[in-house]
Amino acid sequence: MTQNQFEKKSEAWSALFSEPMSDLVKRYTASVFFDKRLWQADIAGSLAHAEMLGAQGIISAEDRASIERGMAQIKAEIQSGAFEWKLDLEDVHLNIEARLTQLVGDAGKRLHTGRSRNDQVATDVRLWLVSEIDLIDGLLTDLQKSLVDVAELHVDTILPGFTHLQVAQPVSFGHHLLAYVEMFSRDAERLADVRRRTNRLPLGSAALAGTTYPLDRERVALRLSMVDALGHPQVCQNSLDGVSDRDFAIEFTAAASICMVHISRLSEELIIWMSQNFGFIKIADRFTTGSSIMPQKKNPDVPELARGKTGRVVGHLMGLITLMKGQPLAYNKDNQEDKEPLFDTVDTLKDTLRIFSEMVGGQLNPATGKKEGGITVNPIAMEQAASKGYATATDLADYLVKKGLPFRDAHETVAHAVKAAQSHACDLSELPLAVLQSFNATIEKDVYDCLSLRGSLNARNTLGGTAPAQVLAQIARHRGRLG
Ligand code: ARG
Repeated sequence: MTQNQFEKKSEAWSALFSEPMSDLVKRYTASVFFDKRLWQADIAGSLAHAEMLGAQGIISAEDRASIERGMAQIKAEIQSGAFEWKLDLEDVHLNIEARLTQLVGDAGKRLHTGRSRNDQVATDVRLWLVSEIDLIDGLLTDLQKSLVDVAELHVDTILPGFTHLQVAQPVSFGHHLLAYVEMFSRDAERLADVRRRTNRLPLGSAALAGTTYPLDRERVALRLSMVDALGHPQVCQNSLDGVSDRDFAIEFTAAASICMVHISRLSEELIIWMSQNFGFIKIADRFTTGSSIMPQKKNPDVPELARGKTGRVVGHLMGLITLMKGQPLAYNKDNQEDKEPLFDTVDTLKDTLRIFSEMVGGQLNPATGKKEGGITVNPIAMEQAASKGYATATDLADYLVKKGLPFRDAHETVAHAVKAAQSHACDLSELPLAVLQSFNATIEKDVYDCLSLRGSLNARNTLGGTAPAQVLAQIARHRGRLG
């Protein structure tokens, strides 16, 4: 396309076309108003391509220098907001190339040698996503550190652990929070894996079949840091696949969806814990809103929205996976629809991780060097709730097993004891020894050690258990891992 033709694009694509696109079709097919955010990746990809074209003798050293000069100016224009994005030029690629040609003439027109927008866009999206994954990884580390900080304050804080949202067994609040640290650490692992497959170079696939020019694709990959852990260049090995598959975007969105599901579960718990019926925690006022009619209300809008936004991200996963399913090889314009869901997934996930890190762990106060304004925990309310639902019944059964009773018999015996306690409206630990002994004669005074919440907690001292000693060991492991 000559400079002249670029300018004439508002009329028709080329001499081949007998009429211009209608305004509606232009608007329908254009992507520049969302894909312009790929501009940095687009310029980086073009510079690497131009450098290689120069090194291979496909373009002259002067042309390469002109391209670099032009791109430097374009970069400055985009950063300052002076760059004029044109709908007529359809997408980020044509906008930048047209401006380059305006600035440096024929050298700009030579940039597209051995390249198509098909391999160009696939490269841009991959480059952009890799840099976003790196940012998300940092945010996941921050969130995990926030959770570990709060967990450390609450190793000995007891709350009821639930199954079926019924009081089950006492657990350490620190242990409970560390469950989320495990989830987020797996999210980070998943993203690292997605990153590996995303960080591969499609450029050089050209439109679909490769190109007749003697390109050095590995050189381009190295310049763009598309390398494996050992620094070896990573290049898509099949041109048809390189330009067409968006599985990396689908995988990313799947990993993001799982991460959002973890956030959503945490949100649900925060919402339950801060309801008046539980009263376990408070979140700082800046994360809540009032009601326009009920003056007493403080609503957990942030966790509720995060729970809601999870649906939105999962929706993007459905969108992307469906986008791919009917496409024949190789590139189809359908793929232009990969961007908005992908961009929105990244934006939503990043904002959510940031806000959760601060909402749970607080904000660093530079004056004190400490984090302030995270969740406030009410250990008394938590412990009272744990002492309500016969949370140590399993411990009594385990006690009887140690006395020689088969577990199933012990289970039945304890059911009778719980029934008796219920009829006296008291806890198991409040039943007199004589009453307990009426259920099983082997019961002695030491039974009260295991009927207390703390005794129950301390007893679960196996790897991964809730005993404070285990929780402290996990905190040390996480600190070592997270740095
Ligand atoms: N804007 C397009 C996209 O996002 C770039 C590739 C266009 N290629 C083509 N042959 N029309 O996918």
